Amino acid sequence: MKLLLSGRALTAGAVAVATLVTGGSAAGAATAPAHPTATAAAAPDIPIANVKAHLSQLQSIASANGGNRAHGRAGYQASLNYVKAKLDAAGFTTRVQQFTASGRTGYNLIADWPGGDANQVVMAGSHLDSVTSGPGINDNGSGSSAVLETALAVARSGYQPAKHLRFAWWGAEELGLVGSRYYVNSLGSVERAKISGYLNFDMIGSPNPGYFVYDDDPTIEKTFKDYFAGLGISTEIETEGDGRSDHAPFKNAGVPVGGLFSGADYRKTSAQAAKWGGTVGQPFDRCYHSSCDTTANINDTALDRNSDAIAYAVWALSQ
Ligand code: TRP
Ligand code: CA
Ligand code: ZN
Repeated sequence: MKLLLSGRALTAGAVAVATLVTGGSAAGAATAPAHPTATAAAAPDIPIANVKAHLSQLQSIASANGGNRAHGRAGYQASLNYVKAKLDAAGFTTRVQQFTASGRTGYNLIADWPGGDANQVVMAGSHLDSVTSGPGINDNGSGSSAVLETALAVARSGYQPAKHLRFAWWGAEELGLVGSRYYVNSLGSVERAKISGYLNFDMIGSPNPGYFVYDDDPTIEKTFKDYFAGLGISTEIETEGDGRSDHAPFKNAGVPVGGLFSGADYRKTSAQAAKWGGTVGQPFDRCYHSSCDTTANINDTALDRNSDAIAYAVWALSQ
């Protein structure tokens, strides 16, 4: 499919927002941080404390349910209930989509923010299930919590984007992208064509972090790169298994995709440690798919930067 997000449209949107912020009337202006570019001025700084509070809740849910939040288990259902309750209270229109995988019922959670052009949908999503061997706090409580907090920031700021915003939490990713594939297949080709971009966040708080940007849709990729460039942080293209997360079904259906990743079981090179800090020769996440993927398995700085980058991209791409 042809790229639907044109650079010209984004530039026009950025100018309009910059004008609003200067005028002091933009809903999000009071909480907007000082950012290096005009587009970023519209996006809020996502409070890392709020993201971490969601992670604590997901950890508690795992601990109370046999140590995991895996597909078909009580910990998954409780995770979904937690996220859904926050979104419902904030004014989102939520929908739980049911499917079956490996003989157990799975669930996707879809949350629409009312308003915007229904023919131009910007989606952000993350998988909410863990593996059975651990609580899945970096993989993927991190993405799930950051996307949740971004959605809640949309509600808090009363943001009314030109495009329609939709957020998603996928089930059964760890069984092979089952929930996201089910969702993409459930959309007819007409509905799929309305999605102007899908942004995926899977593992964004790795304890020995890298800053990886998916090398897919050029406009989405550039948006993330611009954010990190504004912070003076260099990024690399994500190479640790393209197609290993929920953006793949969207990409295969012709939807422009992008995303962020802080690394799994690959090891940090000396060149990477030189620019990002951390430990050479150690995995980005030594607890990947293990019982030690707990709240202790998070780098707060990476989680904060990536959360802010999500908000930046959601704002920038929806105007
Ligand atoms: N959840 C993914 C998985 O288990 C994590 C992952 C590995 C990933 N490599 C990736 C996510 C590359 C995004 C991009 O495979
Ligand atoms: Ca922040
Ligand atoms: Zn995983």
